Amino acid sequence: MSVIEKIKARTSNVLFEESEVSREVITKILDTAVCTPVHYNTDPWRFVVLQGESRVRFGEFLAERAAKEMEDPADALNITKLTRIKNKPLRAPVIIVAGAAKSTNPKALMAEDIASVASGCQNMLLAADELGLATIWRTGAIAYTDDVVDYLGFEKNTRLVAFIYLGKPSRKSKSKIRKTSSEFTRWIN
Ligand SMILES: Cc1cc2nc3c(=O)[nH]c(=O)nc-3n(C[C@H](O)[C@H](O)[C@H](O)COP(=O)(O)O)c2cc1C
Repeated sequence: MSVIEKIKARTSNVLFEESEVSREVITKILDTAVCTPVHYNTDPWRFVVLQGESRVRFGEFLAERAAKEMEDPADALNITKLTRIKNKPLRAPVIIVAGAAKSTNPKALMAEDIASVASGCQNMLLAADELGLATIWRTGAIAYTDDVVDYLGFEKNTRLVAFIYLGKPSRKSKSKIRKTSSEFTRWIN
């Protein structure tokens, strides 16, 4: 398949086996994320890879954090909600958390560095696909909180870009009929 065909055929998949993915394979995927265009060579990409028990601890942290914002965390409905939050990181054997660090270069723009890291995330989805792994890019409002940035040990002012859930697919993802660019494009001659 050509690169164009691969880009068009890639789809997200939320169904993962619990089996481990080797560090070598994950590194291969991460290495594709730092091969994107970047203004002022800021190297904004930062990654935290969560596997095994670290996902359990992260889930507990997310649930504790959510409970603090609830009037009555012991309420039956809230207990269900908190259990769901706690289990979220367990939906895949690996989570690559990708962030864009704030550059010390006064000329650098955060929006551009986020764009570079986001491009890197797409590279990772394609690399994972090539290696027979399933992925889904997730965020949610919590991704943009300082608490989560601090908990994961990112530098201050890092902006999270993606939680990439990754693992061996337990079921093939469905192919999709994609839109074409024509409805989003104006041509100016
Ligand atoms: C920045 C960003 C954040 C996203 N966050 C979520 C999310 O939290 N939950 C979710 O189900 N999908 C999320 N998505 C969408 C999925 O990653 C995916 O693109 C979508 O389900 C369409 O599937 P496809 O990749 O097969 O086209 C997000 C996508 C992006 C780019």
